[in-house]
Amino acid sequence: MSIQSAGLFIAFEGGDGAGKSTQAARLSETLESRGLNVLRTREPGGTPIGEKLRSLVLDHGHGTIDARTEALMFAAARAAHTHQVIRPALKNGTVVITDRYIDSSVAYQGIGRGLGAEGVSTLNHWATEGLHPDLTVLLDVDPAHGRQRRTAGDASEDRLESEPDAFHSAIRHAFLDLAEANPSRYLVLAADDDMGTLAAQILARVDSLLSELAPREHVPGGCP
Ligand code: TYD
Repeated sequence: MSIQSAGLFIAFEGGDGAGKSTQAARLSETLESRGLNVLRTREPGGTPIGEKLRSLVLDHGHGTIDARTEALMFAAARAAHTHQVIRPALKNGTVVITDRYIDSSVAYQGIGRGLGAEGVSTLNHWATEGLHPDLTVLLDVDPAHGRQRRTAGDASEDRLESEPDAFHSAIRHAFLDLAEANPSRYLVLAADDDMGTLAAQILARVDSLLSELAPREHVPGGCP
């Protein structure tokens, strides 16, 4: 695999309640403890405008949002995120770890909302000027299990999370199809596996990618 930029770009994907945030945080802490520059971020969000779009698109109570509007809002947040945050960080030699990226739009809006994977993928290719992750970690979760995890305690569900299990099941298969189409760029793991085992598998894969990079590119502080 050829690494497309000076830094390393890692995306965590999967259904709601898969445990992406926990694994992204663990990976980020481990790499930081080794002295690497790491940026952990999320979508939708990661920029001031992206966080505003996040609350507009996820909160209940902004009236009906049709599927195309929804896809464009996620893509707009992503365009800002890529342009303002991810590309500059990668250029600086940073390891960027994002909680969700383009695959979420392809799965949720393309398949879940029925807009079509191809159109949504093209839209996002345009929005990001073709920036794709070096590695996508897909945490595969059974929809019922995911719902159980995310509603544990009193947590409420956002607009997308509150869709029925059939919607989440279609999304699960969409993620798996994306991984199957491009296996060298994905690490697919069962989300209900032990957290420590998952973290170790993710770290092993990331280590192998880091070893493919020239050492100067991962000196803390980045390269000029
Ligand atoms: P997420 O941040 O994972 O939720 P939380 O942090 O509240 O657990 O994702 C928010 C929701 O947005 C999630 O249901 C998936 C959805 N989503 C899309 O539908 N399309 C997208 O492109 C993205 C990035 C997220």
